[in-house]
Amino acid sequence: IQKEALESIDNSQEMKELQAIKVTYLGKKGSLTSVLRGMGKLPAEERPVVGEIANRVRETITDALDEKNDKLESEALEKQLETEAIDVTLPGRPVQVGGPHLLTNIIEEIEDLFIGMGFEVREGPEVETDYFNFEALNLPEGHPARDMHDTFYITNDLLLRTHTSPVQARTMLGYDGDSSVKMICPGKVYRRDTDDATHSHQFTQIEGLYVDKNVRMSDLKGILDVFAKKMFGEDREIRLRPSFFPFTEPSVEMDISCKVCEGAGCSICKKTGWIEILGGGMVHPNVLEMAGYDPEIYSGFAFGMGPDRIAMLKYGVDDIRQFYTNDKRFLKQYHNA
Ligand code: PHE
Repeated sequence: IQKEALESIDNSQEMKELQAIKVTYLGKKGSLTSVLRGMGKLPAEERPVVGEIANRVRETITDALDEKNDKLESEALEKQLETEAIDVTLPGRPVQVGGPHLLTNIIEEIEDLFIGMGFEVREGPEVETDYFNFEALNLPEGHPARDMHDTFYITNDLLLRTHTSPVQARTMLGYDGDSSVKMICPGKVYRRDTDDATHSHQFTQIEGLYVDKNVRMSDLKGILDVFAKKMFGEDREIRLRPSFFPFTEPSVEMDISCKVCEGAGCSICKKTGWIEILGGGMVHPNVLEMAGYDPEIYSGFAFGMGPDRIAMLKYGVDDIRQFYTNDKRFLKQYHNA
């Protein structure tokens, strides 16, 4: 029995086999166990001799099993260490690093320029009430100029804001009509447009507002001139053309000179030497009044521009949809812009 057991222990390659061998020889119905059980039938003088032998055999087998078990265990560990070895000299896989979106960069650049001129940055809700988006801006219900803004209505009274001007109305209200306001409000706006190279149903705006005693049109012109030169280059000139907005009177549109130009708007620029970049004007007395200011004492200017358009002009992007479809190859070009 011992010889046979030791041989199979020696030949076994797995713990499972060892377990089976243990059962075969030492288990309840194992061969050594039956020898021990059969001892009762032996003559009394043979029992101690056979008992001793059987016990020795059991010990030998148990020892052999333990030894083999240890050996298999350490072999398995060895193997695991070998296959799971980490090559610390292997170069890492490059991680794809994102960066700020071009529009974010442009908006931050514009914010910095205006912060430098004493403007605060304010934000407001994108889901707006009809009151703040239109009414408080001198656009009562049924006003024909509402048609200029193709609006996404949510309910009769709630809509996706079509411009960031409601933030101005909200901010003015917060001042109780007796102190100056100097703020810009960047943010997303929405209009029901059919998307193409120059239209998007979602785009961004930055509007500015300055209300104080004695604010004049020349203040607006001065600030916008500084803005245009800082944003597009010191050699740029600006010109103001008369225009119409319900919330400003008089209203203007501002062009910048464009001797050098690339991409969007280039053909207009080549023809005239000017390209339109924003709208503005003197805050309408009705708007001041609704916000709690006395238009006899206070006056203000407001302006609004589209960072999408400015980014297109500045970087020669010829399709506004590039900003929203987020093709990584497009976005990557501007990570350090
Ligand atoms: N809110 C206007 C628009 O979206 C832009 C604007 C702002 C014009 C402030 C004048 C003054 O069309």
